[in-house]
Amino acid sequence: MLVEKLLHVLSDVVWVGGMFVAYLAVRPAAVEALEPPQRLKLWTGIFARFFRWVWLAVFLILGTGFSMMGRMSPVPGYVLVMAGVGVLMSAIFMHVYFAPFGRLKRAVQHEDWKAGGAALGQIRILIGVNLALGLLNIGVGMLGPML
Ligand code: HEM
Repeated sequence: MLVEKLLHVLSDVVWVGGMFVAYLAVRPAAVEALEPPQRLKLWTGIFARFFRWVWLAVFLILGTGFSMMGRMSPVPGYVLVMAGVGVLMSAIFMHVYFAPFGRLKRAVQHEDWKAGGAALGQIRILIGVNLALGLLNIGVGMLGPML
């Protein structure tokens, strides 16, 4: 259980922490410093590298989460909430990866900056939603046992 919980929380830190930096630090700095074509190329490079770690985090969070949950009887309410929110976050990430991120890569390849801007705008909204859900889930995970 201890190793699972460690992997669970480390994966949360990588995923939620990465979204926090991307959304609240990199995004405004990129808008200030770069023109749209450079900005779109930068984000394509950032996402390509970050999403590899997010895939690992998603597999570890779901794997350790369901494994720990499987040994709980009954399963506490806060764990059911965390599981539901975690599965929703994973579905949103997979949509981002296969849909707007795919469009962003193609737009940059074809220097279609308008389409690239639209795809990046959609990624920004969905990462914003997942960041809020991730912070909520950390609260549920930490405070749940005390409620
Ligand atoms: C990004 C999504 C998630 C975040 C941020 C998150 C966060 C956390 C945190 C902070 C803890 C507390 C660790 C501790 O006690 O020190 C925890 C524990 C746990 N999480 Fe998650 N979790 C997420 C997704 C999930 C999912 C999808 C499941 C189930 C499928 C799950 C099941 C559990 C279980 C069973 C525990 C142990 C609870 C206990 O021992 O009281 N979590 N999680």
